[in-house]
Amino acid sequence: MITTNTTLKPCNAQNPAWLKMVEYAAKAPSGHNTQPWIFVLKPDAIEIHPDFGQALPVVDGSNRELYISLGCAAENLQLTAAEAGYRSVCSIKRDALKGDAYIRVNLEKGETTKSVLFDQIDKRQTNRSIYKEHDLSEDTLEQLKNVEIDSGVALHFFSRESEDFKILRGYVALGNEMQMEDEAFKNELIAWIRFNKWQKNSLNNGLTYEVMGTPALPSFLGKPIVKSQLTPKKQNKADMEKIDSSSQLVLFTVKDNNPEQWVRLGMTLQRFLLEATRLGIANAYLNQPCEVSELTLKMQEDLQIKDEYPVLLLRLGIADPLPYSPRKAVEEVVYIMEE
Ligand SMILES: Cc1cc2nc3c(=O)[nH]c(=O)nc-3n(C[C@H](O)[C@H](O)[C@H](O)COP(=O)(O)O)c2cc1C
Repeated sequence: MITTNTTLKPCNAQNPAWLKMVEYAAKAPSGHNTQPWIFVLKPDAIEIHPDFGQALPVVDGSNRELYISLGCAAENLQLTAAEAGYRSVCSIKRDALKGDAYIRVNLEKGETTKSVLFDQIDKRQTNRSIYKEHDLSEDTLEQLKNVEIDSGVALHFFSRESEDFKILRGYVALGNEMQMEDEAFKNELIAWIRFNKWQKNSLNNGLTYEVMGTPALPSFLGKPIVKSQLTPKKQNKADMEKIDSSSQLVLFTVKDNNPEQWVRLGMTLQRFLLEATRLGIANAYLNQPCEVSELTLKMQEDLQIKDEYPVLLLRLGIADPLPYSPRKAVEEVVYIMEE
């Protein structure tokens, strides 16, 4: 637990296997690629704490997406631990002082367990391109539906021919209309865009020009150009084309809207994304209707899932790979605790 009496000390490489667990954990996805995690090495555990300095107060005011990202990182960490010959047990704790949730992964030397999902950690990526309009085979969908789901989390699949697919498409459009009229939302997004190679390589976080599919520009040119694209009309034109090229939408929900469930959803999400990667399925997020609470409530009614809370919307399909998003060096996110 991090308290005001403890100082975090940067960690020098002491245990390569544990540093590898952190390196692979940090390959997890995170909203705007903020990488909002701090890994604390203990003698018998690695803790994953939220780094609220990297939070997104406008789009993610409750830190829900932040905690989902920590859950994704925990899943990667456990897969890497198994590969390195450690048994791991994951629990979600509360900081005694502030009550903030964090994750503790207990580690004990054991058998090496090979996992097909571990091999996908390096290959997974968010792919925001236009997909190839292929349907996914029944067999592929079945394998995705068989991914292990944590308690309290549910997944709903919508094929492109279904009525509900059209309903969700409409909600994404409404979400864009609201977010693209919100100056604070746009300013927060722009602050995380890395407009050129220099910004990308010096910060190693954020949404790069490459993953956004835009040319590299000096930021004084990039900022106004991107801002001019952030209008409801332009965003919807781009997003509707992307949705229409996708094979499936998948909605992730939780029973209780709290940090413990968000972390569990993140762990489920990461297994799902790694399995999708293994099956050659591209994926990207359309979270707009889950981020605007009035739309979320209406969506619950329309989809008749009143006892579940919609949290994340993914589109799936077939696409060519894109350049990868950068990650900070392990040394920047890993600490040991000095009492
Ligand atoms: C909880 C969560 C929410 C996200 N929301 C969005 C989103 O609304 N739109 C989007 O394009 N990407 C979204 N992303 C994807 C991130 O931007 C992406 O993970 C990050 O840029 C790193 O890229 P990578 O996934 O290719 O490693 C989200 C990721 C997570 C984990």
